[in-house]
Formats: sequence, C-alpha cells, structure tokens
Amino acid sequence: MNILITGGAGFIGSHVATFHLERGDEVVAVDDLSTGNPANVEAFKSHPRFRFVHADLLAWPGLAGAAKVADRIYHLAAVVGMFRVLKDPVRITKVNVGATEALLEAVATSGHLPQVVIASSSSVYGRSEAKELGEEDDVVFTPHDGGLTGYGLSKLVNEIQAHAYRESFGLPVAVARLFNAAGPRQTGTYGFVVPRFVDEAVKGKPLTVYGDGRQTRSFCDVRDTVAALDLLAGCRAAYGVPVNVGTTREISILDLAKLVIERTGSNSEITFVPFDEAYGAHFEHIMRRRPVVRRLQELTGFRPRFTLENTIDDLVSSHRPAPLHAHA
Ligand SMILES: NC(=O)c1ccc[n+]([C@@H]2O[C@H](COP(=O)([O-])OP(=O)(O)OC[C@H]3O[C@@H](n4cnc5c(N)ncnc54)[C@H](O)[C@@H]3O)[C@@H](O)[C@H]2O)c1
Repeated sequence: MNILITGGAGFIGSHVATFHLERGDEVVAVDDLSTGNPANVEAFKSHPRFRFVHADLLAWPGLAGAAKVADRIYHLAAVVGMFRVLKDPVRITKVNVGATEALLEAVATSGHLPQVVIASSSSVYGRSEAKELGEEDDVVFTPHDGGLTGYGLSKLVNEIQAHAYRESFGLPVAVARLFNAAGPRQTGTYGFVVPRFVDEAVKGKPLTVYGDGRQTRSFCDVRDTVAALDLLAGCRAAYGVPVNVGTTREISILDLAKLVIERTGSNSEITFVPFDEAYGAHFEHIMRRRPVVRRLQELTGFRPRFTLENTIDDLVSSHRPAPLHAHA
C-alpha cells in the first residue's frame, strides 16, 4: 500500500510510519516540523520504502500528486498541544481547518478514492462535564476567547468537513476522535502531561501538577491508537461518522504523578501550580475526559494491548540515556 501521513514527523504520525513500514508498505511523511521532530523519523530516515517531505501542508505543491498515488492517507498535521494552541490561535483555524480542506479537496479531485483517516479530538466535547463521552452526546461550547475553544471547534469543523466530503464525493473518510494518546516519542514541551512527568521524575525534579490534580484523563498507548486508526481506515461502516479512540481506564493527574514516581523509582516530590499560573487567566480546565468506546469496538473489534504501566515504562526507557559502554 502507498501511505501518505501528514504530520508524519509528529508523535502519532511517526508511530503510524513505523506501523506501515513494518507491514511492508511505502510511506511518505509530510511535515513542516513546527512541533514535529526529525528525531522521530531518524530510525527509518534512510529506509528504502520511506520518504520524508519537509513542507507546510498549506503550501505544498506536491499535495495533489501525493493524493493521486496514495492508497491511504492519515491526516494528522495540526496545531496541537495546550501551550502552542494558547500561544498561536491564528494558526489553529488556518492549519487545522485550512489544511484539512486542502487535503480533502485534493483527494476529491484526485480521480480515485484513497482511504482517509482524519484525526479529530476529544476536545470536540468542549466543556462537557459528562462522566463518559459518547459520540452522540451534545458538545458544550460557550463564547470564549481562549485558544482551547478554537482548537476544539477546529476539530469539530474537521468532522463536518469529513462528513461533507463523504456525502458529496463518496470519500472513504474515517473520523477518529482521539483521547489522550501517550507513549515513546511524545514530548512534554507543548503541554502533554505523561512525558512531562516522566522527564521530571527521571531528572529527580519535582513533578508539577496543575490545579489540585483531581482532574482525570484516560490515556491510550500510542501503539494502540495507531492500531485503532488502521482498523478504522479499512472499515466502511466507519466512514463519515466520528468514532472515539481511546481507553476507558480513568486516572487522576495526581495519581498519575504518583504512578510515574513509582515506576521510575524516583525521589521526586509533587508540587501544585494553579491553572491560571500555568495557562493564563482565561484557561478553562476540563475535569474529565473518558470515552465510551462501544462504537469503536463494535465496528472494528478493537481491544487495547498496552496498559498505562507499559506506556510509562517504555517512555521511561526511551528517556533514560543509554548506558555508556566502556572502551576496550
Ligand atoms: N496526542 C494526543 O493525545 C491527541 C489527542 C487528540 C487529537 N490528536 C490529534 O492527532 C494529531 C497528531 O497529534 P500528535 O500528538 O502526534 O501531535 P504532533 O504535534 O506530534 O504532530 C502534529 C504534526 O503536524 C505537523 N504540522 C503542523 N502543522 C503543519 C503544517 N501546516 N504542515 C505540515 N505539518 C504540520 C507538526 O510539525 C507535527 O509533526 C493531531 O491532529 C492532533 O490534533 C492528538
């Protein structure tokens, strides 16, 4: 299969690349390296079936040509991460909505029907306080000038774009509402909590918990996320409708900090920082994010393979410097 990955040097994109290279496919990854990291694709940079294109999707002259030859496209390029989203609100709509439109239009005019997977997000549920979030539930947004609303709404627009192109052009487009993915190659720089805690614990620094730490999240190992994306891409019944992708195990951020300290054997302490100090006065924190995954399971039979402990352990080994070998 010919695979095109937008955002291919990113955290999830690079795992999608690994998955398909291991399966024997040809992979093209396009990325502007705004949050992606060349190190993510370093291991297979010179692989004969891998090609990396350094380009902004909004201005990539190769997009139409790439859409013509792709059998499957993972559209993952987006402005992501709490800090980047809050710092650069203009880019959110420009990239998240603009690049998705450009991509879907390129596919619709390509003369063939490659499978497309669009990465949506649990952020589409907005400020919903529901215990669990199902695809048919109402989403909750209030007029607000903070960037997070813009991010969630941009992802909701992506779902509307996907549905529209499915209806109007029959595109086989799957919409994955991703809930917190975590695992090796994720960076804490832009606000992702698991790699940040691991980094702090490994370095013996205090683990900084924002708020009181009672807010909960459900973390899905990125390798499970990628397996689910693959299943959705090939699932006809999934086209045009949003599908939650994640796991149902819920953990508070404080318990996550304790778990990371336990798994790393670190002496780090836990410190608390108020949300507005971390993210600014307009930040509205979300208390819980737990998916209902029935639709994903019924459509694809997906079951996660990795536990949160596995994820943390693997992140820890990828964070620790390799042992120095004594010279002979
Ligand atoms: N990681 C998660 O927990 C999570 C949760 C929900 C949704 N998502 C979605 O999954 C996708 C991938 O997220 P990720 O966690 O791997 O983040 P990431 O930042 O590692 O990956 C996004 C990639 O897109 C690239 N990119 C951004 N703008 C671009 C542009 N204009 N042209 C080309 N490349 C561009 C970045 O450089 C980066 O490599 C995103 O669409 C994100 O919204 C992720």
